[in-house]
Amino acid sequence: MSEAAKKEPMAPRAVRHSFTLTDNETGDSYELPILHGNIGPRVIDIRKLYAEAGIFTYDPGFTSTAACTSDITYIDGDAGVLLHRGYPIEELAENSDYMDVCYLLLHGDLPSPEEKSEFDENITQRTMLHEQLVRFYSGFKRSAHPMAIMVGVVGALSAFYHDSTDINDPMQRMNAANRLIAKMPTIAAYAYKYSLGQPFPYPDNKLDYASNLLRMLFSVPTEEYEVNPVIARALDKILILHADHEQNASTSTVRLAGSSGANPFACIAAGIASLWGPSHGGANEAVLNMLEEIGTKENIPQFVKRAQDPNDSFRLMGFGHRVYKNYDPRAKVMQKTCHEVLNELGTSDPLLDIAMELERLALEDSYFIDKKLYPNVDFYSGITLRAIGFPDNMFTSLFAIGRTVGWIAHWKEMMSSAESKIGRPRQLYKGEVARQFTAVANREHTSRKISWAWLWGGQSNNER
Ligand code: ACO
Repeated sequence: MSEAAKKEPMAPRAVRHSFTLTDNETGDSYELPILHGNIGPRVIDIRKLYAEAGIFTYDPGFTSTAACTSDITYIDGDAGVLLHRGYPIEELAENSDYMDVCYLLLHGDLPSPEEKSEFDENITQRTMLHEQLVRFYSGFKRSAHPMAIMVGVVGALSAFYHDSTDINDPMQRMNAANRLIAKMPTIAAYAYKYSLGQPFPYPDNKLDYASNLLRMLFSVPTEEYEVNPVIARALDKILILHADHEQNASTSTVRLAGSSGANPFACIAAGIASLWGPSHGGANEAVLNMLEEIGTKENIPQFVKRAQDPNDSFRLMGFGHRVYKNYDPRAKVMQKTCHEVLNELGTSDPLLDIAMELERLALEDSYFIDKKLYPNVDFYSGITLRAIGFPDNMFTSLFAIGRTVGWIAHWKEMMSSAESKIGRPRQLYKGEVARQFTAVANREHTSRKISWAWLWGGQSNNER
């Protein structure tokens, strides 16, 4: 266990167990309870604040807001620590396999040998897709982004598995969890095969999770496909590294969607949509684009400078994190895995040299030091995945496969918590107040009006 992870659980530091809020305008004071987790910062309980004081709190982006209690994952962003159910990510990546980690996240403990083989079987028995669902693919354009297909097909699972959409039945919840974990590689692999115009291979249940994914992605019916065990192990590690990350944007999206009672397949489709963005799961694709744009080591200083210019929208992709103000522990494992994959394949990638030099220069630069911007998991994952043979637009889909267990573990936890209620944030309203209605003939042109051509990006109706 790393030194940082061995840190004692934070003892309740404060003598006071409440927080006093004073309204300077009215002079009223409110006592708010302070809650203590087993580790991590204290939390002010503001649940009754609005009812008692008529005050909301303002926290766009939830930088200081705990939206739920959770037993699954803990991150200490300052120390660069990530624990799943108490186990450091480095140890899980080194000693465990993805099925082990899935079981751990879903059930709270590492499985015994019997539990492990039962779980493995539960997953492998569900890897096939309904043939009607496979037909959905032909409705997409061949050029569709795999994440677009995944959002659609995963959402459509709700139409196929009525026996696992009763969210109040724990057995059905477990069935839905197993189905999603089992089918996600098949769904993603078919999105890739569809783009190539190649036949969809059936899953091979003799293979482990990562090997089966490799085979479904890269095999063709005309040739033997041998899974390289070193690459399969590397892919398994990558899935472990992406398995869960506490209340990130996509997991919070799954929780918010699920809080209304939506079925698990619809909730995970919402999570996939959220993951797709370049500030989240789309970053590894963006890192490769950036490294290609940099092109040579000589150009790096100019890009490091651009990233610091407030008038330039350019950012170093794969750098910075909302929670980590230290090296992302997953990035270290990913860097090692990247070297292992390139060594095994006997290839070199000039982008790796650019990435390592970029990392070195950025970590020496006062801008990145002062803002505590370090490489995140996406910095080396793109190079690794490309070396394995993944096309760039499949990177985020692979992230979605790995993260499915995290999403579903959080959804399950929320569904079985007595504290859960529909997620409904409030707002600080800055709009117009109480205007008088004007009949259309009497309205004046305002500068805020938007032209339809602008709204549709200059496209005609036919092209939309
Ligand atoms: N390059 C240059 N400057 C950066 C970067 C970066 N990659 N990241 C943050 N900064 C700067 C911001 O400009 C800001 O500066 P300011 O205080 O002078 O305005 C400061 O650091 C804080 O940045 P925020 O955007 O406010 O931090 P936030 O926590 O909201 O954003 C995020 C985190 C989105 C990850 C951001 O660091 C980023 O855009 N990184 C690049 C994209 C990326 O790699 N995303 C992957 C995230 S990991 C994952 O999803 C698995």
